[in-house]
Amino acid sequence: RRVEVHEGVTMTEPDIKKGLAGVVVDTTAISKVNPETNSLLYRGYPVQELADTQSFEAVAYLLWNGELPTGDELAAFRLEERKHRALADNVKAAIDLVPLEAHPMDEVRTAVSLIGASDPEAGGSVLDAGGSPEQNLARSIRLFAALPAIVAYGQRRRRGQELIAPRDDLDYSANFLWMTFGEEADDVVVDAFNRSMILYAEHSFNASTFTARVITSTLSDIYSAVVGAIGALKGPLHGGANEAVLHIFTEIGSADAVEAWLDKALAEKRKIMGFGHRVYKNGDSRVPTMKAALDTLVAHYGREDVAALYDALESQFVERKGIHPNLDYPSGPAYSLIGFDTLTFTPLFVAARVTGWTAHVIEQAGANALIRPLSHYDGPDERHVAR
Ligand code: ACO
Repeated sequence: RRVEVHEGVTMTEPDIKKGLAGVVVDTTAISKVNPETNSLLYRGYPVQELADTQSFEAVAYLLWNGELPTGDELAAFRLEERKHRALADNVKAAIDLVPLEAHPMDEVRTAVSLIGASDPEAGGSVLDAGGSPEQNLARSIRLFAALPAIVAYGQRRRRGQELIAPRDDLDYSANFLWMTFGEEADDVVVDAFNRSMILYAEHSFNASTFTARVITSTLSDIYSAVVGAIGALKGPLHGGANEAVLHIFTEIGSADAVEAWLDKALAEKRKIMGFGHRVYKNGDSRVPTMKAALDTLVAHYGREDVAALYDALESQFVERKGIHPNLDYPSGPAYSLIGFDTLTFTPLFVAARVTGWTAHVIEQAGANALIRPLSHYDGPDERHVAR
């Protein structure tokens, strides 16, 4: 169909893909999402297999380097990660300036922005702001190592508690829990947490990763890309959903209240957070693995009431709407059982996804094309200022 775009000028009506739904914008070798087979591969490996067998450090290494590390490579990588765990004094001071009422995602965004501004090589001339792949890999590892302290301190200060220094004798996940709670977590808890980090690490061209790639495509620096990605992840249609799931659980209260709650929510046309996905229409490939981790936590903490509420809402919502849970549905209650405050859930997602984001920044920079789509103008026809 031809439409008039200007007096007397017509063109073929553009095929607008609202929300870029179904549009393939580039290639990637980092992950493959296949909704038909309900699978997600990181560099070729099924994510379930990685979650069952690997540490989050090994998966981060895989996302950046394309291969799983050998024993020696993992040991060297872990040493490097441990060097950058402590919260820098200026970053702590900046976090302390963020009002306690602000959303912790704003705090994380501010902290990462300051880390970028403090990197002596990141600014420089606009022409080399993007940095070399080696520089960007080193920066990625430093951000990955620094985020647990930022997230853990954020939760602690909201509870009126002091910063806890990292422990060099603990792996990433165990140390993350140590810095948050000040006590060594049980193995079953560390294992569930490690799985969640792996499952959240990467998911192709989701909204926040695409944001990071758009920013990188202008030859901006990696920190700016991560800061932008954090902003995109904050929204409840994306990362903010894990937090929203817990609000829903709190609102419902218990399994026997689900039916009445759902009647009302659906009558009000509310979106039920933690359900639905742009790509997966028959269930999110990561959910069964995270649900199994949630089940171990339910047994560990003796909280069968949480499992009952989870199951009741899932079965009734799926039966009525045919829309399945996404990863945020099991991870929200899992983080709550571990002891994280609801407001900390989306920052945890940042700590995991920073690996995927930075892998995409390096990939985008390596084969760059400025990302600049077109739009179809539907505002007023040309007119002139009255003189
Ligand atoms: N609750 C109620 N209805 C829903 C939900 C939901 N969670 N998800 C989709 N629908 C309905 C929509 O209302 C719409 O119905 P309609 O056609 O009658 O208007 C239809 O299903 C299609 O939904 P859209 O929102 O148009 O589909 P889209 O692909 O854009 O949405 C999205 C995907 C944004 C994730 C959506 O399912 C949603 O809002 N879910 C809740 C938020 C959420 O859990 N986000 C986490 C995403 S995964 C992650 O970040 C790990």
